Amino acid sequence: MRARSIVAIAMVLTGCSAPAPAQQAPRAEAPYLDPAVPVSQRVDDLLGRMTLDEKIGQMTQAENSKLAPGEVTSTAVGSLLAVGDSTPPTNAPEPWADQADRLQKEALATRLRIPLIYGVDAVHGNQIVVGSTIFPHNIGMGATRDPELARKVGEVTATETAGTGFSWTFAPCLCVARDDRWGRTYESFSESPEVVSSMTTIIDGLQKGPNKVLATAKHYLGDGGTTEGSDQGNTELSEAELRKIHLPPFQEAVRRDVGSVMLSYNQWNGEYLHNSPYLVNTVLKGELGFRGFVISDWNAIHRIDGNKDDLTAQDVREGINAGTDMAMVAADSKQFMSLLKAEVEGGRVSMERIDDANRRILTKKFELGLFEHPLVDRALTATLGSAPHRDLARQAVRESQVLLKNEGNVLPLAKDGNAVFVAGKNADDIGHQLGGWSITWQGESGPTTKGTSVLEGIKSVAGPTTKIQYSKDGSGIDSSYKVAVAVIGEKPYAEYEGDRDTLPLDADDLATLKKLEASGVPVVVVLVSGRTMDIAAQLPSWKAFVAAWLPGTEGAGVADVLFGDHKPSGKLPMTWMRSSAQQPVNEGDGKDPLFPLGFGLTY
Ligand code: GLC
Repeated sequence: MRARSIVAIAMVLTGCSAPAPAQQAPRAEAPYLDPAVPVSQRVDDLLGRMTLDEKIGQMTQAENSKLAPGEVTSTAVGSLLAVGDSTPPTNAPEPWADQADRLQKEALATRLRIPLIYGVDAVHGNQIVVGSTIFPHNIGMGATRDPELARKVGEVTATETAGTGFSWTFAPCLCVARDDRWGRTYESFSESPEVVSSMTTIIDGLQKGPNKVLATAKHYLGDGGTTEGSDQGNTELSEAELRKIHLPPFQEAVRRDVGSVMLSYNQWNGEYLHNSPYLVNTVLKGELGFRGFVISDWNAIHRIDGNKDDLTAQDVREGINAGTDMAMVAADSKQFMSLLKAEVEGGRVSMERIDDANRRILTKKFELGLFEHPLVDRALTATLGSAPHRDLARQAVRESQVLLKNEGNVLPLAKDGNAVFVAGKNADDIGHQLGGWSITWQGESGPTTKGTSVLEGIKSVAGPTTKIQYSKDGSGIDSSYKVAVAVIGEKPYAEYEGDRDTLPLDADDLATLKKLEASGVPVVVVLVSGRTMDIAAQLPSWKAFVAAWLPGTEGAGVADVLFGDHKPSGKLPMTWMRSSAQQPVNEGDGKDPLFPLGFGLTY
């Protein structure tokens, strides 16, 4: 063998930063390419072949719309994420699958042919894709108290997510929301750590079903416990309280072998979670024994030096040394790579840290089968929005409904010979029943995807002899109707955009209710919202009250409960305030709520 090639191989094997000899593509029988070889040996073999540039590439996640064609190959970036502005020209399953395959083929054109792991926020179904099945948001799933249902939802979500080329979802959020003024309350299964922990079965559905994607336990740690529910704020708790309230769901997720953990934007007593070696290295990776990899939140390490708008050597050095294994650096992937390389070459980030991060990441890529099946299985693409998937979502909607009042047993509604007046801004608006993280980041009003509105559900479930009249603002109601159903609540929002000081019904809803109540017709209220709201003053005028949360595409599940095809079985996942002034209000805090955690009536 020529001396030059011996030197070149020696340099590659030691991981030093010689420019990768592009022509030295590995022979097919290289151990890391052989699925019969144990994963740990495949990782060792591959790691031994990688240059520093290639290792740093694996620790980098870019936003897919921020790379020019060919840059996945030229930068050897290891991961991409899809967010709102990554959408293909036509938002439909096949174009998403085509985009994923195009990007993956670029990765397979790199010297070592390491496939991408492609992430997306499939947080209640593969919600970025028009036509996908969208399930109730976590707060509604928490109301079901049905871990087996959550597992099944995870399985279907994995199938529809893999069907568009994503191998990783940034879900489930295991936040324990303690103040409903927080804009991400609906991403929480409950204020109760026990309820949240019980719903981690969704991780099994995502990672161990017929079609597998990597799950993410997020956001570590204490995101739901910030003062006044301020998103990305400061969680001021003793370590004992932090461990008691916010840690248990992550312990359960690690026990279920969750593949990744996403760090949180919030601080703990002023310490930024993205720069907390104790909580990440000592507690998560040490004490809990987490073997997967840690992903930062979107551009979160940028903030480490106190300035969130730039990425500096300090940001990169401290973020990686504090335990982040892969940095979600959106548009700054090339800058991140060069900064980290300089830190390693300057001896300020060790090769042990780089290799540990790579082992964690590559282990998951091998376990997912990405080396053997890097491209989309188009049979899965065809399943998005299928009838069986929508049936499961409708079941989830049924089980998530919480009946909070039923004076005179006005519910269930008679299917036949009835006259039902339906009103409210959320009665016939798919976008509103989806909430945030639906097609777009913030969600939108209107028919944003294929689904069934609550009104359409009422029309489909009621019998042919029942009259259904709809008026968004309630105008036209008269005493000829036997019952009025007001579907009211919130418009979509996500993250800090949803932070509120108070949680009253909006003026439109109050005006609609006023018209209905003036008619003397009994009023049934269905609240489509991401959280509990301040409704104590209005409640006495309502004959019945159902919390529907954010049900997703299958609004007919709400009608199934209104007409009695499913007896209400939901239980409150959050304590219901007497007024906004009571927030935060949680079980055991000595306050006197309107409805306690776990409350729910049936027929
Ligand atoms: C966001 C969210 C996080 C999400 C990530 C990628 O800022 O905090 O939950 O997974 O960015 O969209």
